[in-house]
Amino acid sequence: MESVLRLSGLTKNYGGIRALDGVSMAIPQGAVFGLLGPNGSGKTTLLSLITGLAHRTSGSFIWQSVPENTPSPDVAAIIEKPNFLPKLRAAEQLSHIARLRGLGEAHRRSEIPRLLEKVGLSQAADRPLQAFSLGMKQRFGIAALLLSDPRVLILDEPTNGLDPQGIIEIRHLILQLAAEGRTIILASHLLDEVEKVCTHAAILKQGRLLDVREMRADSAGGSGEAAGMLVELGVAPEQLPALFPLLDSFGAKPEAATGLLPGRVQVRLKPGADPAALNRFLSGHEIYLAHLQHVHDRLETSFLKALENRP
Ligand SMILES: Nc1ncnc2c1ncn2[C@@H]1O[C@H](COP(=O)(O)OP(=O)(O)OP(=O)(O)O)[C@@H](O)[C@H]1O
Ligand SMILES: [Mg+2]
Repeated sequence: MESVLRLSGLTKNYGGIRALDGVSMAIPQGAVFGLLGPNGSGKTTLLSLITGLAHRTSGSFIWQSVPENTPSPDVAAIIEKPNFLPKLRAAEQLSHIARLRGLGEAHRRSEIPRLLEKVGLSQAADRPLQAFSLGMKQRFGIAALLLSDPRVLILDEPTNGLDPQGIIEIRHLILQLAAEGRTIILASHLLDEVEKVCTHAAILKQGRLLDVREMRADSAGGSGEAAGMLVELGVAPEQLPALFPLLDSFGAKPEAATGLLPGRVQVRLKPGADPAALNRFLSGHEIYLAHLQHVHDRLETSFLKALENRP
């Protein structure tokens, strides 16, 4: 898949602090790319560098179709808290922003109602921003980004401070924008949210990139890792002694899991192996599965593992 952005050894020092430390990775076109990491791990720094809000110390970044180390005109970002005029009504404010960006009046007239509708703010078009909830302000911010019809949207902690309903609204909006073919890069510390919306997740710690993984979009679960699919099997408990050597000869490795029912085992299949083939193999040896299910690899588990295992 083509990349919209490539980073190569991207590094940023703020005085004596190395905020970003030699990060190299590629962001595929059309991805919803989550940047995860504890406070101070360099997420905002990375987003600031690639949008030209801060200057890199060393290394490079390159956006598709523009020269190296140059922000791309196809990218729109909310990195700092959006700074809107509190007294201006939502529609007027969008019109004002659109004028500043040089969009013509006809375009403004057709686009503004469409964008307000898209972010679920049609009813609030004539209300001043100071009367908006935090979630409404976030969605308004996204509408403002969309004025320029960017191919890439960058959102720093888009669900920060939102209640569960607000989080769901932003989630749906992100999924909708992704379905339109836009690439989304977002920083978040909400693992669960990243898991729900992202196709890829990168983990930063103290400015260093610990891990980048692709998540599977299919609802059946699985992580899409090269490590192979995680499945849960169930047999009559008395069959367990016979099950383990057979799993071994199929190349499926049992994994530790908590809270399983009796007779249930979680195993990781070899990369490319198929759960149906495992079922056929076991029934050929007179082990009949009462239960077979893909298990979603919890991002939280791998995130915590990655953070624990590296300095
Ligand atoms: N403008 C700045 N001047 C000095 N130090 C900075 C500046 N911006 C960031 N830093 C430092 O760089 C490091 C990375 O900060 P950054 O804001 O990128 O982290 P983050 O992952 O976005 O954190 P958070 O989850 O809290 O938003 C921190 O140690 C921070 O104190
Ligand atoms: Mg930040």
